[in-house]
Amino acid sequence: MQFFIDTANVADIRKAEAMGIISGVTTNPTLIAREGRDFIEVVKEISGIVDGPISAEVISLEAEGMVREAKELFAKIGNPNLVIKIPMCSEGLKAVKELSAMGMHTNVTLIFSAAQALLAAAAGATYVSPFVGRLDDYGYCGIDLISEIADIFRTQQIDCKIIAASTRSPLHVIQAAQAGCDVATVPYKVLEAMTHHPLTDRGIQQFLSDWDSLSAN
Ligand code: G3P
Repeated sequence: MQFFIDTANVADIRKAEAMGIISGVTTNPTLIAREGRDFIEVVKEISGIVDGPISAEVISLEAEGMVREAKELFAKIGNPNLVIKIPMCSEGLKAVKELSAMGMHTNVTLIFSAAQALLAAAAGATYVSPFVGRLDDYGYCGIDLISEIADIFRTQQIDCKIIAASTRSPLHVIQAAQAGCDVATVPYKVLEAMTHHPLTDRGIQQFLSDWDSLSAN
């Protein structure tokens, strides 16, 4: 399973990139707005940090507008790794069909059912993004949806990658891997949390203090 970082914060992207563990980046309008910066400028800067798929989302609700925005994003950002993030809806599916016919990669977002994932894949999506945490928020098991989609894609030999999105904890990431996800897109604080274990941290301290006591002798 690959790791993408789910943020538009370039400082966090640089730190995750330096760890050597990320293969791509996902953003959405909320994450961009949180940075208070120009959309194009941020995605351009991210493009200079990570050599991998970078998802940038369109905001139009009609296919025509989505396709227009996608072309503009490619023209302005000039990164062939750009992935156009499209919200799941019938207009979105139309746009995915058109964009994939033009050779653009797409990521269909806000997937909350296997039925939606099947439609997105049929339209030609490169990725589908089921939202794990937001399903959990409503009392459903987000990871069960990942397993269901992974099972269907495997059975049907569907060549569309599954990104576990809205991951909120190391456990989500582990379970997404167990469920057979292709990618987990993870906020920086969760990636950082995954580096720790109390016994690791305590062990490092112990090794250092034992070493210090040796050199004090
Ligand atoms: O990957 C989608 C993600 O950014 C949404 O996360 O925590 O707002 O549900 P969250």
